[in-house]
Amino acid sequence: MTESLYRLVYFSRNALAGDAEAVRAEIESILECSRRNNAAANVTGALMFNGGCFAQVLEGPYGAIQVTLERIQCDARHSGLKVLAFDRRSARGFAHWSMAYVGAAANVDRFAHIAKTSAFDPSALDGEAIYDTLKANLADSALA
Ligand SMILES: Cc1cc2nc3c(=O)[nH]c(=O)nc-3n(C[C@H](O)[C@H](O)[C@H](O)COP(=O)(O)O)c2cc1C
Repeated sequence: MTESLYRLVYFSRNALAGDAEAVRAEIESILECSRRNNAAANVTGALMFNGGCFAQVLEGPYGAIQVTLERIQCDARHSGLKVLAFDRRSARGFAHWSMAYVGAAANVDRFAHIAKTSAFDPSALDGEAIYDTLKANLADSALA
């Protein structure tokens, strides 16, 4: 029997210090580590970063997502992590990405939309909206 598939979406606040170059290096290191661990754990997903906040989608077996989230939650590079959605899904949205990345620079409009509707207030953010934004951004970059 195939394992049930789950999707988790969370939001957190950036705690990275340093100049733009130092932040970029940290993001690269997060992505490298995420891709290695997630590929081994059958987890896929996407990470969004706008300088002030992170939002991330993790998808895969329930236990693998839980273990991954526990590690992520302990990470001092962000704070105030809030899970917005964690539910069963019939298909992966990011099947080809062990961790896709959407930064702010190339996606100002869509980030502006999320920022405007929520003011990046975690209580106003919606897991489905974050998922849709990441999907749309990745579809655009695949066409570019
Ligand atoms: C915003 C953010 C997203 C992260 N996403 C993941 C992830 O998807 N998978 C993962 O294994 N680690 C992720 N990490 C890193 C973990 O917090 C942790 O440093 C890492 O899993 C430790 O892995 P290691 O024991 O292989 O060094 C993330 C960290 C941050 C700050």
